[in-house]
Amino acid sequence: MARYEIIGGKPLEGEVTISGAKNAVVAILPAALLVDGVCRIENVPDISDVRILLNMLEDLGAKVERDGTDTVIIDSTNITSTTPAPELVKKMRASYYLMGALLGRFGKAHVALPGGCNFASRPIDQHIKGFAALGADVDETDEYVALQPGPNGLQGNRVSLDVVSVGATVNIMIAATLLPGQTVIENAAKEPHIVDLANFLNTMGAHISGAGTDTVKIRGVESLRGGTYTIIPDQIEAGTYMAAAAATGGNVLVKNVIPKHMECITTKLEDMGVKVIIYDDAIRIIAPERLHRTTVKTRPYPGFPTDMQAQICVCMAIASGISRLTESVYETRFFGYCTELESMGADILITGKTATVTGQERLHGATVKANDLRAGAALIIAGLSAEGVTTVENIHYVERGYERIIEKMTALGAQIKRIED
Ligand code: UD1
Repeated sequence: MARYEIIGGKPLEGEVTISGAKNAVVAILPAALLVDGVCRIENVPDISDVRILLNMLEDLGAKVERDGTDTVIIDSTNITSTTPAPELVKKMRASYYLMGALLGRFGKAHVALPGGCNFASRPIDQHIKGFAALGADVDETDEYVALQPGPNGLQGNRVSLDVVSVGATVNIMIAATLLPGQTVIENAAKEPHIVDLANFLNTMGAHISGAGTDTVKIRGVESLRGGTYTIIPDQIEAGTYMAAAAATGGNVLVKNVIPKHMECITTKLEDMGVKVIIYDDAIRIIAPERLHRTTVKTRPYPGFPTDMQAQICVCMAIASGISRLTESVYETRFFGYCTELESMGADILITGKTATVTGQERLHGATVKANDLRAGAALIIAGLSAEGVTTVENIHYVERGYERIIEKMTALGAQIKRIED
């Protein structure tokens, strides 16, 4: 088992370049299964979720090339299976996008239920509702979801989501792209990666409009051709480095970002006393002497992302005054990291959906466990800002979503190393 060892207390300084967005790429790689030809996808981060997904595509019969750069070439012309290997599917959450992709391209799919970060119960009823509305016959068990055309065949339809779900929006968009007729998704998620997926599919010949609003329209096309597409920068990776700069009293230029995607995060950091300078595709973070208290409520985009909850909580834990952090997407997410932060000296009181965080002068080093991807990122930030040595265990979660994190943090002056037992 590998772990990170961090000697804290040093402000981060310098520049960091943000990689391609994990949540966009884990939707776009499965969507490449719809394409009858060769897709060249650029700015693909080298993270374990991507490696697993590429293995799954290869296992289904796709030809996958990765030449050591950030470009991946996928040829899905000769797919031979509609049953992805369960042992791979179970390794990550976003493998459920193979349901929409295989249903859309081949009219059938047999996909094991996915694994991934277990920070909450994560139902997929809205995905299933979408597939059924498109005419699929759905056989759902505790182990798998099997899809095939229902009595009237597969075709576009109107789907109104009961909850704003990124995953369901993505899956229905992918499934509907090649179906006859028009699909309208109402109450759709608006996250930047939804727009990125639509742009990818449209580049390959799809007709999708409205992505980024709460109504997405997909006019089915007969086939998609190959092409080249570049993944957007990762909003959450950028936010994580911004929070790390703020928490360590640093001064960091975060490069290769789309500042518009960062507004909900920059606004909160400014509220905490951080000086934020915005350039065309970069953001400089200059931390104050001490962060100020604030109030944050997570919401679907364009609100403050739930995937930044844990990182902002670390900033609150060392800010002056009492902060309030309310989670409205995944209520149980606090339990993934708050106890660990408490063992580093944080004072956090959780009542229902809200954490009341009483800021301390400093946290102190401890041995802590990452229980999910973003919790792991937050513990790294805590370790960097704390006095003494912090050991973060269970780092496979972190490596699911942060490309070259040790290299990037070290370049900013962090004292962090990966230790393999
Ligand atoms: C995606 C992101 C994840 C992020 C989350 C919320 C990816 C690969 N993952 O996860 O990093 O934390 O969005 O921004 O993009 N829900 C249902 N039924 C469903 C689907 C969802 O009730 O069928 C509920 C969930 O329990 C949750 C809310 O809807 O309370 C939002 O979930 P959703 O947007 O679907 O999250 P994911 O797509 O799993």
